[in-house]
Amino acid sequence: MELARDISLIFHFLGLAMILGPFFIQMRAHTNYAFGWVLLGATLQLLTGIALTGIAEMRLADDDMSLNYPKIFVKLGLSLVIFVVALIARRRQRKMSPTGNQRALLPLLHTAGALALANVVMAVVWPGLVS
Ligand code: HEM
Repeated sequence: MELARDISLIFHFLGLAMILGPFFIQMRAHTNYAFGWVLLGATLQLLTGIALTGIAEMRLADDDMSLNYPKIFVKLGLSLVIFVVALIARRRQRKMSPTGNQRALLPLLHTAGALALANVVMAVVWPGLVS
């Protein structure tokens, strides 16, 4: 169980990097946004986040303890929005010229990056996985 948690958490951090990496590097670019990576990252966050929640539920020491589900559901909601935004952006980008100006898609990159940042802050600042 410990190993499953470690592996899921490693991929949780890799998924986070796949969203925030393109955001920071391309936040002022005009074309070629790496929405494929953002979409893969968003998918990973959803899958590993759900896995981590299940594993944490199984690791609870006794019946009086419970996970902080309000926190988990807010993270899940934001992650779903990131996923949908990345999906829309990737589809629109496919219809554009790879070398042309894609600036119309920049707000979608900003939205995905800002929501991922909000999720990082929440993961760290909102107390407790277990309450
Ligand atoms: C963009 C989306 C997300 C980001 C940036 C993110 C970020 C993080 C970070 C930085 C941590 C490590 C800090 C900590 O342990 O509290 C973490 C842990 C965790 N995340 Fe996420 N998360 C995301 C999505 C999700 C989703 C969708 C879920 C659940 C449905 C989730 C569930 C969890 C759980 C359960 C842990 C604790 C793992 C443990 O300590 O055993 N996360 N997340």
